[in-house]
Amino acid sequence: MINKLYFPPQNDKTKHTALQAVTKEQEHIGYYALPDQDITPIMDYAETIDNTATTIVVIGIGGSSLGAKAVYEFIRPVTALTRKLYFFESTDPVNITTQLEKIDVTKTHFLVISKSGTTVETFSIYKYIYSLHPHPKAYTFITDPGSPLESYASETGAAVLHLPANVGGRFSVLSSVGLLPLTLCGIDIRALLEGAKSIKESFFNAGYMQDTMLNKAVYYAKHHAQYHINCLFAYSESLKYFCEWYVQLWGESLGKHQRHSAFHVGLTPIGLIGPKDQHSFLQLIMEGTRDKSVTFIKIENFNDATAIPDLSLPHLESLDTLNGLPFGTLINMQCDSVMEALLNEKDIPIDTISIPKTDAYNIGALIFYYELLTSLVGELIDVNTYDQPGVEAGKIILKKKLANRAF
Ligand code: PA5
Repeated sequence: MINKLYFPPQNDKTKHTALQAVTKEQEHIGYYALPDQDITPIMDYAETIDNTATTIVVIGIGGSSLGAKAVYEFIRPVTALTRKLYFFESTDPVNITTQLEKIDVTKTHFLVISKSGTTVETFSIYKYIYSLHPHPKAYTFITDPGSPLESYASETGAAVLHLPANVGGRFSVLSSVGLLPLTLCGIDIRALLEGAKSIKESFFNAGYMQDTMLNKAVYYAKHHAQYHINCLFAYSESLKYFCEWYVQLWGESLGKHQRHSAFHVGLTPIGLIGPKDQHSFLQLIMEGTRDKSVTFIKIENFNDATAIPDLSLPHLESLDTLNGLPFGTLINMQCDSVMEALLNEKDIPIDTISIPKTDAYNIGALIFYYELLTSLVGELIDVNTYDQPGVEAGKIILKKKLANRAF
């Protein structure tokens, strides 16, 4: 994975401060260790899941589902997988009904994932599905040790896996939360972790990623008042759910009260997919307020030779320049052209991330890159990257409304 920045190198002292902070954070923030974990327990547990279960369902929301979904939807189009994976995340009744129509519950293993073990969305959906299929052995629970969910699971005799200590929901994709559903579908989780490790080692062992990511983080933090919207412009449909994961990671981690001031700060994530969003959001970036940075993500080799045929259409001869061109080349030319146009503006911060191909290794690298970047920027803009007090208020009000509800 190559990350090229089109903005100037940043202050060495600030970079050093950020490096020291995340180096120290490794002592108490759990996600940093995940690329080096021993996955034998997860693999062994996966082996115990009944082979007649041809479908896996994740019941969970936010950090408990978005990461696995991002990886699955990236890999699925290019790899023959062993099982189908569905995500039940929403309380939208139509969504629940239509998703259920796609599966045979008797041939499904359900992974109920909730770090807190009390999330309304997850347990309303679980209750409904369990009422249709009340077989405790068809369910595995993933939660924090000692949560109410763990107590429930041990009462019903269902299996429980734990999140590792001090791993927040949105940083948990490389733990059992993401690894179990992904390995159950035949995705190479070893390669996923190897990819993550490549970024971790390059960063912490003073490799190429160290200076690159520090420059990017310092630039984002220093200019966060002006360039407070960070667009991720991914040129592949397969990265659509990666963009959703990024939006959660960045938004929930970086929109906070500062730790040492009374001010609210925040960086707003936007996920865009090329070329589709060239025909919508791009106008706003190009000519709108200068408050956006853009990161382009490109896949160098789509490993798909589908090409535009050598066909000349009457009255449309000007489009003959497309003839013979593989779509994989065209989409990257489109990305390069938009990037060049934005660079010509001179006041829009741009960088590019190129990944060689669509596989588990590369999505693992991308995931760890963004987790680490989030930690660096959070440190520099002086927020607690790992909490989310802002989402609690609505949950408390909902719980009161539910408690006061007339039966
Ligand atoms: O990142 C987070 O902490 C949140 O988005 C949680 O993942 C989300 O609220 C779901 O919580 P839980 O896993 O406790 O059900």
